Amino acid sequence: MFVNKILLGDNLEILKTMENETVDLIYLDPPFFSNRNYETVWGDEGEIRSFQDRWDGGIDQYIAWLKERIEQMYRILKSTGSIFLHCDWHADAYIRVEILDKIFGRHNFRNHIIWKRTNTPKGSQFENKQFGIATDSIFFYSKTNKYFFDDKTIRTKISENQIEKKYPKSDAKGRYYEYPILRSPSKGKRPNLTYEYAGYTPPDYGWVVNKKKLEEIDNRGDLGWRNNGQPFRKFRPHEDPGVIVNNYWDDILRIQSNSKESIGYPTQKPEALLERIIKCASNEGDLVLDPFMGGGTTVAVADKLNRKWIGIDQSKQAVKVTKLRLAKH
Ligand SMILES: C[S@@+](CC[C@H](N)C(=O)[O-])C[C@H]1O[C@@H](n2cnc3c(N)ncnc32)[C@H](O)[C@@H]1O
Repeated sequence: MFVNKILLGDNLEILKTMENETVDLIYLDPPFFSNRNYETVWGDEGEIRSFQDRWDGGIDQYIAWLKERIEQMYRILKSTGSIFLHCDWHADAYIRVEILDKIFGRHNFRNHIIWKRTNTPKGSQFENKQFGIATDSIFFYSKTNKYFFDDKTIRTKISENQIEKKYPKSDAKGRYYEYPILRSPSKGKRPNLTYEYAGYTPPDYGWVVNKKKLEEIDNRGDLGWRNNGQPFRKFRPHEDPGVIVNNYWDDILRIQSNSKESIGYPTQKPEALLERIIKCASNEGDLVLDPFMGGGTTVAVADKLNRKWIGIDQSKQAVKVTKLRLAKH
């Protein structure tokens, strides 16, 4: 009943009214347990109320405050669903151990993503007694081990100079490397794959493909023969699966004040960050929830990527800004 809606209010109360196992993906970027001066974004009544709830008892209060909300998120997540929790050094260790491991289970921890949000951390231009802080943490947990994850969306294409190194040989059709076309002896005998082709009969562990497929490979110009008469497959750059993005994300810069997506407040997250998360952890038509919606980055990206979405925020200003943002794209 909340699908494609922006809801104003304390997320705890709203989450409690949502049905069990209905959401596919949750991204949350709760206010950090940080310095009072940095924590308020909108400065309006709703946000200040939430700010006081979190602050009165220090870190323990903050963890208790967040934990009861994450318990609700766990309940409404489908068994194939995942959660991505964005935080920083102020509380990340507590959040992982005291909340996520306890609610989701350590065995459902998938990644600690390190987002390098800046090259010039605050204070780096001055003398300092500690290292500059350039990163945030994003914890990725699944509800079960049968979670949805589309790894095709997180592969980067091989670059031109990598192609030369990885595909050192070439023929009239282009570059390639030699890839086995015979099965490994360790896999045992396969009489049905041990057929004669072009005058060559392999040992009794056979070819890796059946005769029809082998003919196709040959007709495409991708079957090669070494001088000693051994066949091999020519593996070409267009078949390259690419490289999986790892957990260190240094290719997405934070929003600059002059960037096109900027709506002008410091904790706004870049659309590219949400795009990566939403694409790998949900399908078109799935339901994406952001219970700390802020300026609506998650819901805007979910909408563009044809996902259903729900956004919750306690601040009237956040709701207003997000509605405007959605109306614009
Ligand atoms: C760090 S901002 C989120 C920024 C967002 N990721 C973006 O890119 O625009 C955190 C938001 O959580 C909201 N918030 C804080 N406590 C809340 C609560 N109890 N219920 C709902 N929203 C809350 C604040 O009003 C603020 O907009």
